[in-house]
Amino acid sequence: MTNRQLFLEHVAQTSEAPLALEIVRAEGMYLWDVSGKQYLDMIAGISVCNVGHSHPRVVTAVREQAEKYMHLMVYGEFVESPQVAYARQLSAQLPQSLNSVYFTNSGAEAIEGAMKLAKRYTGRREIVAFHHAYHGSTQGALSLIGDEYFRNAYRPLLPGITHLHYGASEDLQAITDRTACVVAETVQGEAGIVRPEPQWLQALAACCRETGTLLVLDEVQAGLGRTGSLWAFEPLGVVPDILVLGKALGGGMPLGAFIADKAVMSVLSHHPVLGHITTFGGHPVSCAAGLASFQTILEEKLPQSVPGKEKRFRQLLQHRHIKAVRSSGLLIAVEFESFEFNKQVIDRCIQKGLLTDWFLFAPACLRMAPPLIITEEEIRTACALLVGVLDEL
Ligand SMILES: Cc1ncc(COP(=O)(O)O)c(C=O)c1O
Repeated sequence: MTNRQLFLEHVAQTSEAPLALEIVRAEGMYLWDVSGKQYLDMIAGISVCNVGHSHPRVVTAVREQAEKYMHLMVYGEFVESPQVAYARQLSAQLPQSLNSVYFTNSGAEAIEGAMKLAKRYTGRREIVAFHHAYHGSTQGALSLIGDEYFRNAYRPLLPGITHLHYGASEDLQAITDRTACVVAETVQGEAGIVRPEPQWLQALAACCRETGTLLVLDEVQAGLGRTGSLWAFEPLGVVPDILVLGKALGGGMPLGAFIADKAVMSVLSHHPVLGHITTFGGHPVSCAAGLASFQTILEEKLPQSVPGKEKRFRQLLQHRHIKAVRSSGLLIAVEFESFEFNKQVIDRCIQKGLLTDWFLFAPACLRMAPPLIITEEEIRTACALLVGVLDEL
């Protein structure tokens, strides 16, 4: 049996048509498959590899930490220096009120933690989320996501969740003094890149303040430079009570986090004690990798390079088959007439060595979310390949 056959036989599948590329090496902007074919990566492991694949600094950090120690103890019991150093660095780059970091293994777990923290801190049970939002696949996160097709097969889900229309001011009155938190993506990703009007987000934050509701911003996909600022909320004139991170946070290793003020976070330590725990959350090797990646993002000023790159993509992504391009930095959705057309484009791009993808709730849109290190030349190559495919159709 080939590795591909064994993969289909023994590795649990999430769709009937996995890409099933067999990659043997990845470096920077490129992946190579078992036949030696090279792929230019336009999805970065779905917004994970912001500093590119196997960045030497991240690889060194992983090696050095693995040689010192790997798992020692469940999260929060021992002083583990990679966690401490990373939490300190994150806090230093965040507003004063976001100073306490709870590390998790994934984005969905960070969302779960944020929901529990908000309920515990406010003593309330209701949660507000948004249509077309994506927050993860665990049952709590799934209860928040704004798509009935994905939710319905797994009912019963969490009670007390109301979905509002993202961007609709009239819906904000649903936030009341019974609402524990509002969970919103700072930029909706899986919806096909929907950016909020700053005024709307500010009105949302004001409603939260007036009703004593915590504002949870999910930047699992949008954070860490991808939208052109280190944090997507920065240019929008709001500061969340809880910030949720994941994906690029671990520099290619599994890591998520929810971050709040210490006064808020401290409720998790009592009544019940150990009421929110994780064995592997904040794994020392993940934190070491994440910190190396974070320092690279800062030192190489990657967020600052993003707006120019976004502009270049937008200039080059013009074709009669392209209905619209929506972007927030290097989170780009290229809209076609249908999912079927999009799928053909994605498949043909892969044949030509260009790796793209689609969006869960916007199936007619092609996803481009390359590592932030992408060069001008690579942007030209990627867009020329895509436009070449569109010319054939
Ligand atoms: C905005 C957002 N939140 C949460 C998640 C869930 O993260 P994870 O897949 O690490 O559980 C994702 C994953 O795509 C996401 O895009």
